Amino acid sequence: MKYVLSCLVALIISQAQAKEGMWIPSLIGEMNIGEMQAMGFALTAEDIYSVNNSSIKDAIVHFGGGCTAEVISDKGLILTNHHCGYGQIQSHSSVDHDYLTDGFWAMKQSEELACPGLTATFIIRIEDITAKVLAGTDTISNAELRKKRVSENMAAAEKAAVTGTHYEAYTRPFYYGNQYYLFVTETFKDIRMVGAPPSAIGKFGGDTDNWVWPRHTGDFSIFRIYANKDNKPAAYAADNVPFVPRHSLPISLKGVKQNDFTMVYGFPGRTQEYLTSNAVDYVLNKSNPIKIKMRENGLSVMDGYMKQDAATRIQYAAKYARIANYWKKWIGESKGLTKYDAIQKKQSIEKELITKASTQNAKDGAAITALLDSFKLVYANYNTIALDYEVFAEFYYSGPELFKFINALLAKAVPLTKKDIKPEEVEAIKKKMVASIERFYKDFNVKVDKDVMTVLAPIWFETISTTGKSTYVTALLGKHQNNWSMVADAVYSKSLFADKDQLIKFINDLKPGLVFSKIKDPAFVLADDLAKTFDQALRPKYVEINQKVTEMQAAYMTYLMKYTTEKKFYPDANSTLRVTYGKVDGYKPADGVSYNCFSTIEGIMEKDGTADDFVVPLRLKELYDAKDYGQYAEGNTLPVCFIASNHTTGGNSGSPAIDANGNLIGLNFDRCWEGTMSDIFYDAEICRNIMVDMRYVLFVVDKYAGAGYLVDEMKLIR
Ligand code: ARG
Ligand code: GLU
Repeated sequence: MKYVLSCLVALIISQAQAKEGMWIPSLIGEMNIGEMQAMGFALTAEDIYSVNNSSIKDAIVHFGGGCTAEVISDKGLILTNHHCGYGQIQSHSSVDHDYLTDGFWAMKQSEELACPGLTATFIIRIEDITAKVLAGTDTISNAELRKKRVSENMAAAEKAAVTGTHYEAYTRPFYYGNQYYLFVTETFKDIRMVGAPPSAIGKFGGDTDNWVWPRHTGDFSIFRIYANKDNKPAAYAADNVPFVPRHSLPISLKGVKQNDFTMVYGFPGRTQEYLTSNAVDYVLNKSNPIKIKMRENGLSVMDGYMKQDAATRIQYAAKYARIANYWKKWIGESKGLTKYDAIQKKQSIEKELITKASTQNAKDGAAITALLDSFKLVYANYNTIALDYEVFAEFYYSGPELFKFINALLAKAVPLTKKDIKPEEVEAIKKKMVASIERFYKDFNVKVDKDVMTVLAPIWFETISTTGKSTYVTALLGKHQNNWSMVADAVYSKSLFADKDQLIKFINDLKPGLVFSKIKDPAFVLADDLAKTFDQALRPKYVEINQKVTEMQAAYMTYLMKYTTEKKFYPDANSTLRVTYGKVDGYKPADGVSYNCFSTIEGIMEKDGTADDFVVPLRLKELYDAKDYGQYAEGNTLPVCFIASNHTTGGNSGSPAIDANGNLIGLNFDRCWEGTMSDIFYDAEICRNIMVDMRYVLFVVDKYAGAGYLVDEMKLIR
């Protein structure tokens, strides 16, 4: 009997493959550490997060507020993704120094480049302040007054937490406002760029490979944090010194094997794991299909022009990439939600909750039944209100660019409506407007934009309800035989905004006392009507129904947590620091197909030349031909990327993948396409995150770029 039991336990443990969840670091000790250790983790909860001693937490930074980065040397060196450092790399580039194409390497500290505006934020400590935030609120019945009390309580707690220090603090709601956590932070402001590979390594595979496994991208870049002489944050100063961190991650060259434990520590942005079936139904059957269809149509217009002409290809490359990123993600998400029956599974969770509550507490059972009924009712409206809002936003922000541009341009002209404005102010405004016109038209082709409008307008206008159909657009369409191609012709061909030189002349001719309503240009009139409809007819309704849904979700969450005692809950991602853990593992994307969990330099060479996104730099080929991988080799090859079942999302880009001993083994940068539904519905069978192996990162730094002095700063585990 004992033997059978222990075999059973061993079986259960060995099958404890993936672990859903993005956990609050300060709660690991009570929530997760046992399970983590059973999966192979060799350290303690205190090693992950400690208030009194240095811990792994002290090596993790929020990079520029969006991505994650980690400290990898005692001299403040930090590592993040190439796509996270992209803006910095680009802004330091010029025709003479094209760091995007060629890469950049400081060969000594004095060559590092200052990055004004870039920040690196550490989390000093995390505190559950729910009781403080909600203090005195249960006797306040007026919602507005209650809200006011909550924000006063928060402000007081934040102030008390940082008084007498150079730290800052923020509070975030968890579980739709059922709990509140306070984060004490330390933000460094002198961050310098140290190194980045060429895009042919850092963005190898481009959009073709985006969200895709097997992957071969060296998606990393390196920066350094500088501090004043007291090791404290300070504005940029030439004589600032490299920051001495409380902890820096040792880097393991030992690699990982299938089933090895890994954890990812970083700042995931947004997930919605506790939606009801109605909400998942909205995403799967309303929102995703129409947004995917709109993007598909827009992208195919761009693609047609980009294929015809090299200049257009360059003009539209970045825009195409931005629109394609989430287009591709939504397709993967929808496929996953369908294949894994997400709606039915959410329905069973709801049914089970009612059953459980009803048997234990009839009052709760009735309340939950009523709550789920009102979800149904509210979502009947949400399906229209949110769809109007999303489709309108999709058309306006990711469709034709002209209307958004016109509104932004003319917003700059508002001071000209005053008659008594000074002549030099007028000149300054015009100069600014002309500069923004030059910037916009550099990457704008009116033919492309007009065709994008022609294909997207009918989808947009047929999808939205009457609330979003202004009388102006309805009349405009009627005037042109209900034919959007004719509407687009009329709007673009007679508009001075369709021609850069005409437009600049128009701007230069503007006089003080400008009256907007006198501008009779067809593109301007449409742009103005679109903005007004969106802001006045759609947005307020959307905000209102979202507030209602949030309140209902908060109640649903409370019941779910009260009656689902067998499950450990984690809060949705909200850009706060989290730990997720899993195992190195492949997956089966489709019947008859099985992916393993590693990729190597052989795959880079296989992909070479198969499309524009795959052009291997000569130097990399030379190192490959010579098999010159140094200490970064594994057998006779070089590891490049690997995947695991860590539960990650956008914002986890640049997060460290850490092994069982607390060493850095990989750098997170993407997820596998078939599992992108994990933002709504995580399934361990299919959801995988993608990391670049640290041995490939260091090989590029050391062997490819010759910046081995940086590797000397790091602590390597062999
Ligand atoms: N899919 C990744 C993310 O969501 C990477 C995006 C950047 N890479 C690209 N090829 N567009 O951010
Ligand atoms: N590429 C994403 C980012 O920039 C990470 C991928 C994901 O969504 O998991 O944060």
